[in-house]
This record gives sequence, structure tokens and C-alpha cells, in this order.
Amino acid sequence: MAQGDSQAVIDTRITCAADESIRTPQSTAIMPTARTKNRRAEKDRQGLAIPTTMKVAALDRFGPPSVLRLHRLPVPKPRPREVLIALHASGVGIWDASVRDGSWRPYQRVEFPLVPGTDGAGMVMAKGARVREFQIGDGVYAIDFSDPQGGFYAEYKVAGVQNIASVPQRLDPVEAGALPVPGVTGLQAIDDHLRLRHGQTVLIFGASGAVGTLAVQFAKRVRARVLGTASGRDATTLVRRLGADAVIDARSEEGIDKLHSLVPDGLDALLALAGGEALEQCIDWVRRGGRVAYPNGIEPEPRKRPGIRFLAYDGMPGPREFARLNRAVVEAELRVPIAAEFPLAQAAKAHQRLERGHVLGRIVLRIRVAKLSWD
Ligand SMILES: NC(=O)c1ccc[n+]([C@@H]2O[C@H](COP(=O)([O-])OP(=O)(O)OC[C@H]3O[C@@H](n4cnc5c(N)ncnc54)[C@H](OP(=O)(O)O)[C@@H]3O)[C@@H](O)[C@H]2O)c1
Repeated sequence: MAQGDSQAVIDTRITCAADESIRTPQSTAIMPTARTKNRRAEKDRQGLAIPTTMKVAALDRFGPPSVLRLHRLPVPKPRPREVLIALHASGVGIWDASVRDGSWRPYQRVEFPLVPGTDGAGMVMAKGARVREFQIGDGVYAIDFSDPQGGFYAEYKVAGVQNIASVPQRLDPVEAGALPVPGVTGLQAIDDHLRLRHGQTVLIFGASGAVGTLAVQFAKRVRARVLGTASGRDATTLVRRLGADAVIDARSEEGIDKLHSLVPDGLDALLALAGGEALEQCIDWVRRGGRVAYPNGIEPEPRKRPGIRFLAYDGMPGPREFARLNRAVVEAELRVPIAAEFPLAQAAKAHQRLERGHVLGRIVLRIRVAKLSWD
């Protein structure tokens, strides 16, 4: 963790230096029974009436991190197939910076104040008349790219049932808030686009970031040979601890030489989580008939070559996708590295941290501390 984060972080116990940033899933050891869980949820609900307004971190104009300020907005009401979630934690993604500065506009129409945030986790507080899949008190995570005034940098978030899922038991609320977008993006690369199999060799380019740290583990789960790129001792240690068989620094000549000696016959597959000259040198080492997958957003886009399959994709949410993710979380005994936590009021600082780069795992906004908890 870079210097200066410590002031912004609200719980140093679980937001730690890179080589300690994997938080072991203690929750499995003290997992309550369903009945205890329900009793607790009921108690939480009784103590927490839904207010009419809520705090959000939002912007009134596009610009630098400082445009993110606390605002007050009405708490949204769920429609028939939606639930209202009291958020514990929301993910801060590198793509949120593009929403904030206006360079990426995933909405049909921009409305200010604009509330960023594409994913997070919390507890169901209310539900529409036609929701059968979830109960009040359930711990859920969600993804939503579509609502400019209803992002996840907020105390409450309404989401459609298609966009939410129950939190796997091994994850605590902060990990659950960090998981959704990197989780589906990493898993779908490994299983659907690269179709990685036992014994194949994959390079995760950008293995120490939010998607990469999870993709390494999803690839190990299918018993592939996993190489990762990372720079610096902290990132290298983290990626090794997550299970990578070898780590190279692709920005150095020695790193590329090491890749050649590790995989003399070439790579079967490569997941690109950043673009540039170092990536191109690694793609040169993908064997004929091999595959390169990259989520849209990588810049510059990888240069296509004959004999290699290039697959650009978006991480897709949905009930089926979430069910697969939840299974993979268990199979991989997934650890979700948290780079830093910030309170909602310090969303601007979270973005400053994001822009400094070298983020190991994911940055999160921690919105509620302990009151709402399913573990
Ligand atoms: N379309 C979608 O559905 C979707 C979903 C999720 C993510 N994405 C995109 O996927 C990308 C990765 O997301 P993320 O959240 O994992 O980002 P991230 O946390 O910033 O991770 C990026 C990784 O790439 C490495 N990297 C950056 N520049 C590099 C370079 N020039 N050479 C070698 N390594 C480099 C970083 O390492 P260092 O720390 O050493 O720089 C880091 O490990 C982003 O472009 C994001 O927008 C798209």
C-alpha cells in the first residue's frame, strides 16, 4: 500500500500492505446457522428503519477526483421486480475514473448529480411485490451499469433481480463488495473465452490488479499452469501467494527472456488486462492456434496476428453467470485481495489512490461498518 493511504483507510486491521493483503475467510469458521442469521437480520431490520434520504458520493460535472463530493438524494423505491439494498461496501474500478472524467458514458443520458459505481454488496432491506428469489435480510451482491443517478457510491441501491445474487458464505461483506465485476470478468475469460483446460499454460497479463488477482485463482482451479505478470516485490509476492506458478515483470527485458525459458513451446492462452508494448511482446509468445482474450477497455487494443484467436468481451452479469461465479468462488477457495478501503465521504481520495496506479487487488468504499452483517 502506498504511503498516505493509511489516513484514508478506516480499518487498518483488514486493509494492509500488499504482501498481507489476502484476507483469510475467517467467516467460514464462525458461520452462523440459517436460524441465527435470520434472527440477526430481523434484529438489524428492527434497528434500521429505511430513511427517506441517503448519502451518496456524486459529481455535478465531469473532472478530476475532487469533483466527487457527498450529496443527499432520496432513497429509491424498488419497483415490482427490484430490491432495495443497504450497501456495506462498493467496488471502485479503474473504469469509474473514466465515468468521473466523462471519457466513458455508459448511460443513455447523463444526469447530474451523477453517482458512479458499478457493483457492491449489502443487505436486502425492501423488495418489490413480484420478487420471490430474495428475502429481506439476505446478503447480496449486485452489478448495474445503467443508472446515472443510481450507482453504488451510495448508502442504498435499487437493483433488478436479474442483477443480484446471494453472497457466497466464504466472503465477508467487504470482499463481497469487491467481487462482482472483477469476478464475472475474470471467470468468463478463463472458462468461456479462453476455455482453459487442465495442463494448458496461460499468462495473466496484469495479474496483480482487480481482475487479474481473481483470474489467477480461477485458472488454477482448472489445474492450468498459470504465469502472471507483476511489477515490484509486493505485487510479485501477492500473485505467487494466490497460486501463480511463476511471475514475470513483463516491462523488463529479463522478464520477457524468463517467459521464453519458462514456456519454450509458447503459451496456449493469454488474458490481457492492460495494453502496450510489453503486452505485444508477450503476445508474440502465444503459440499458433492459441487464444488471447481481453475485456473491452484495454488500451491500446492488442494488435491482431494471423494464427491466433483474439476475443474481446465484456463481463456479463445475470442469474446464470452469478450462479457460476458463486460455484467458482467455492471451488477456487477464492481470496479477494483488498488494496485499500475508504469511507464513502472519501470517495475522492479513493479515486486519487486509483489514479496513482499499482493497485494490488481492488479498492473499496466501506459504507457501513458493522451494523449490517451476515457473518
Ligand atoms: N469490459 C468489461 O467488462 C471490463 C470489466 C472489468 C475490467 N475491464 C477492463 O479490464 C482492465 C483491467 O481491469 P482491472 O480492474 O483489473 O485493472 P487494474 O486493477 O488497474 O489492473 C491492471 C493491471 O495491469 C497492469 N498493468 C498496467 N499497465 C501495464 C503495462 N503497461 N505493462 C504491464 N502491466 C501493466 C497493472 O500492474 P501495475 O500495478 O504493475 O501497473 C495491474 O496489474 C481495465 O482496462 C478495465 O477497464 C473491462
